[in-house]
Amino acid sequence: MEKLKTKDGSETLFNPLFKEAYHSIKAGAFTESLYKFVYPCGIDKLAERKNSIKILDVGFGLGYNVASAVYVASQTDKNSKLDIISVEIDESILTKLNLVNYPLQLKPIIKEILKGKVSEFKIGKETYKVYEANSNKFSLKIIFGDGRNILKNLAEERYLFDAVFYDAFSPKVNAEMWTLDIFNIVFKLMTKEAILATYSAALSVRKALLDVGFKIGLVEPVGRKSYSTVATKGGEIPPLPEKEKIRIKTSPYACVMRDKTLSTPREIIYNNWLKEVEMRKKLFPQSL
Ligand SMILES: C[S@@+](CC[C@H](N)C(=O)[O-])C[C@H]1O[C@@H](n2cnc3c(N)ncnc32)[C@H](O)[C@@H]1O
Repeated sequence: MEKLKTKDGSETLFNPLFKEAYHSIKAGAFTESLYKFVYPCGIDKLAERKNSIKILDVGFGLGYNVASAVYVASQTDKNSKLDIISVEIDESILTKLNLVNYPLQLKPIIKEILKGKVSEFKIGKETYKVYEANSNKFSLKIIFGDGRNILKNLAEERYLFDAVFYDAFSPKVNAEMWTLDIFNIVFKLMTKEAILATYSAALSVRKALLDVGFKIGLVEPVGRKSYSTVATKGGEIPPLPEKEKIRIKTSPYACVMRDKTLSTPREIIYNNWLKEVEMRKKLFPQSL
């Protein structure tokens, strides 16, 4: 698997199946974790207020977001403990962590993660393969399978999280994780104050987050021009600028991806969305 050096010196990998890198090369893998996920979700503030913080990590990948959250929380309050559930489709992901030379701050945390064990985990009636790792700073369960199915079962069992790192590959190649239907489920999994953070600036994603009932806000860009996105029911997030509200109302791209059965193949979800965009372009040519 091809190793890539990112702008801040931290390393990432290129995923040949999705044809994307796990992190933004221009922003930096570690920087991206901190400034698009950990701080926008307010993990530092949560660590000041709570002893135990429940995090939902969608797309464990190389574990940067998880390890950065543990790092920031322990810097803020030595006694804080993170209770993390990650979902991940790639059962071979942990072998990929061994290929990466992590930043010094994250190395000891990744080492703790790699001491974990595989077992089974029941959510409702379904049993999943799980990788579990524990330390005095965190407890981590990486649940393996299609995120759609795992999140649906977690919601049915009324799991609730204080923060959500939403980090699938891009909507173009990983459409199943960016639909209105999956965000409907994620909405149910969050406490009132919880913040979801994602690197995505896609209009389809912002529209879907709004349509399921979140308020959304924008986060200062790192390594590119576009702002990333945060969503919450009633927590504190930066405002959504008027200009962006207008784009979401008028752009032909601001229509949602759909996956009513939560089992539609990703290519079909994406192609259906493209067709709708083309139709909207003809209907509203002036708003391109
Ligand atoms: C951009 S990477 C995540 C990077 C990671 N958050 C980190 O901090 O290193 C996206 C991850 O989502 C996983 N993924 C893609 N589709 C998925 C799905 N349907 N269900 C669960 N995980 C999925 C991929 O295997 C990949 O590991």
